[in-house]
Amino acid sequence: MPNGLWGPAVPNRPRRHGSGVPPPALKTVIIDRLAASGEGMAGDVALPYTLPGETVRARLSGKRGEMEAVLAAAPARVTPPCPHFGPGAQCGGCALQHMDRAALLAWKRARVEAAMLRAGFAVPPVHTHQSPPRSRRRARLALRRFADGLHFGFRQRRSHAVVPMEVCHILTLPLFTCARRFAEAAEGLLPKGAINADLVLTETDTGIDLMILGVDEGGLGLAEREALANFAEVADLARLSVGEIPLVTRTPPAMRWGKASVPVPQGGFLQATADGEAALRMAVCTGVGAVRSVADLFAGIGTFSLPLAATGARVLAAEGAPDAVSALRTGAASAGLAVDVLRRDLFTDPIAAEDLAAFEAVVFDPPRAGAAAQAAAIAEAGVPLVAAVSCQPGTLARDLRAFSAAYDLTALTVVDQFLWSGHIEVVAILRRRHVNSS
Ligand SMILES: C[S@@+](CC[C@H](N)C(=O)[O-])C[C@H]1O[C@@H](n2cnc3c(N)ncnc32)[C@H](O)[C@@H]1O
Repeated sequence: MPNGLWGPAVPNRPRRHGSGVPPPALKTVIIDRLAASGEGMAGDVALPYTLPGETVRARLSGKRGEMEAVLAAAPARVTPPCPHFGPGAQCGGCALQHMDRAALLAWKRARVEAAMLRAGFAVPPVHTHQSPPRSRRRARLALRRFADGLHFGFRQRRSHAVVPMEVCHILTLPLFTCARRFAEAAEGLLPKGAINADLVLTETDTGIDLMILGVDEGGLGLAEREALANFAEVADLARLSVGEIPLVTRTPPAMRWGKASVPVPQGGFLQATADGEAALRMAVCTGVGAVRSVADLFAGIGTFSLPLAATGARVLAAEGAPDAVSALRTGAASAGLAVDVLRRDLFTDPIAAEDLAAFEAVVFDPPRAGAAAQAAAIAEAGVPLVAAVSCQPGTLARDLRAFSAAYDLTALTVVDQFLWSGHIEVVAILRRRHVNSS
């Protein structure tokens, strides 16, 4: 066991198993795989902080176990960089800091390849990108009172308990610093009494957008409003909101994409890291290539619509969230780009095949649940080129089955922008096979 890894020399936090209830007996088990959550699995028992191939001593209780010691470590095991990670603190921000980053990326890539095979495709060479530590530009953190004062942090895995955070290896430094400064000043910023707030932070191109949840805006006194405004000034925030209500807007939070300046709605969707966004955009735009018309479905604020429009393509962007729709319209207008923005619930009211048939390409990027009905309509339309973007290989595989009879998977990009978690982003480029009409 290399120094610093968990093993007999580093005893884990004592477990509470209820008064008088003996803890489950220690067993030696071999980990056979990682679940999508990043937890090691021994058969059907989940053991956090373990890796495939490892022999560990653990207390098993039903379908879950608590690893007590690693008896034989996997070659991919490394010393986790963060003191809050692991069976001791159990910060829920990361699941896999004990895994070498190259091995982590290889595991994610293998899951995507397996999903594509399940969907019925031959897998082309795969491009990969991994975001570096300290690059996550949006987060929701809990602010809570502890015996020694106010602290902020992520919740523990599978629990509402908050792990006070001294350092963070995933958040960008400006985001982490902003949360720390807010926690330090919070006694004077928020109404007295139990503080039970969440901080939603987004680092935009014009500054940090901070939204405080769990605090009643109407209950803020003049002194607290002034203190919050002062905090926004001192911390150089772009905007500070309490719930949905912007209290201070020093500069409108916005993304600058090419010539476009796109307002960022409060708590709106933005890809998790700037470099991840660039890798996804590159994969989509290169995959789509030079086309005259493209539909971008689940378009958000235009991460793909705007650069596609900048190539000269006529773009139809469809999105369900009203604030994203209006942001995308403003962004397109700011750069003089011709984007037709449609507000539509694509789950209950997918765009029909006959309306998609006129497009040379379709991009779709649904939430984790996927977009079964919309994907079926795109496949039925016979669009020549499809870029499917997804954060869930399982639902992506299900949605892409509709294409396997008539399309080839010609490019596959795996983007690991949620470093040290089980999450994956994928861009799959599908080309319709030529049909011999004779
Ligand atoms: C994964 S995000 C992708 C956004 C955008 N493509 C990007 O990369 O920034 C999914 C988007 O789908 C939108 N969405 C969720 N449910 C929807 C629905 N039923 N109909 C239309 N859009 C929906 C969300 O508001 C969000 O903007």
